[in-house]
Amino acid sequence: MYQASPTVEHPREAPPPAGKIELTDATKVYAAHGQAAAMQPTTSAGTPGNGADEAGSVVAFDGISLTVSEGELLCLLGRSGCGKSTLLHIIAGLEELSAGSLTVDGRPVDGPSHRRGLVFQQYALFPWLDVYRNVRFGLEARSTGMDGRVKDRAVRDLLALVGLEGFEGARPHELSGGMAQRVAIARALVNEPEILLLDEPFNALDAFTRMTMQDELVRIVKQRGMTAIFVTHDIDEALYLGDRVAILTPRPGRIREIVSVPVARPRDRNDPTLLRLRDHVYREFGLAVRQEGHYSI
Ligand SMILES: Nc1ncnc2c1ncn2[C@@H]1O[C@H](COP(=O)(O)OP(=O)(O)O)[C@@H](O)[C@H]1O
Ligand SMILES: [Mg+2]
Repeated sequence: MYQASPTVEHPREAPPPAGKIELTDATKVYAAHGQAAAMQPTTSAGTPGNGADEAGSVVAFDGISLTVSEGELLCLLGRSGCGKSTLLHIIAGLEELSAGSLTVDGRPVDGPSHRRGLVFQQYALFPWLDVYRNVRFGLEARSTGMDGRVKDRAVRDLLALVGLEGFEGARPHELSGGMAQRVAIARALVNEPEILLLDEPFNALDAFTRMTMQDELVRIVKQRGMTAIFVTHDIDEALYLGDRVAILTPRPGRIREIVSVPVARPRDRNDPTLLRLRDHVYREFGLAVRQEGHYSI
């Protein structure tokens, strides 16, 4: 009879909590001519004001480590030029890191995937296609195995979700900015991405439309359990939308601080916690008028 040898039982180690998206010491350097520079240790020391070094290469961001959890809505907040778009494009798989690593679900990213939907600042719609075809395009571009009627249902359901029922036949030039951006969001959602990446999507909208779109976006992202990264240079927008807000500083882009926003949804824009965090973030950007008092977050 087999006799188990008396071995010491080691408690099985729990695997470390893996993020949906993990960036480790991520760095991106552009060569002078706009192509990715061969990676060499680049320091920010001695970097001229425009972020370029003597050889003319630009460090878009440097040494960024960040974990985004499943179902989290993370905002990247920073001034123009701190590497937000570059970082988002890299997570989308459109560009590569110069150094460091990026994984999604524990696997290295090696190109774009329909599981990661991207919404650009410019609506990037096809002007010659109507609303319906702009949204359906994403499904046609990929062999989904869906038959035509299922695709049709998926597109119509999405157009209803983003409030565009009845506008199927409209062309992009006939749409307001808010409607065009709804189409862009529907198009990003049509392949049911697990991750939604948004690059200052509401910049061109008037303030009222922008607030409506913020509410719609949160509703959709949370309803579908997506993980989302939302890039913005608007402090109020970042705090209103984000479960957390990563504050980036430029030249080279680095994460200065990550602010958690412990405010239940739907959020009140005048929630005292939001206002307190707003004050803190204004200070971080050197925008606060009051100079005294200490605020802990
Ligand atoms: N394709 C490129 N070639 C060279 N430099 C670039 C390229 N894309 C971005 N950069 C530079 O990288 C830095 C970060 O740019 P970007 O990611 O667009 O910042 P943000 O989106 O925060 O405004 C800037 O200095 C920008 O000029
Ligand atoms: Mg940008």
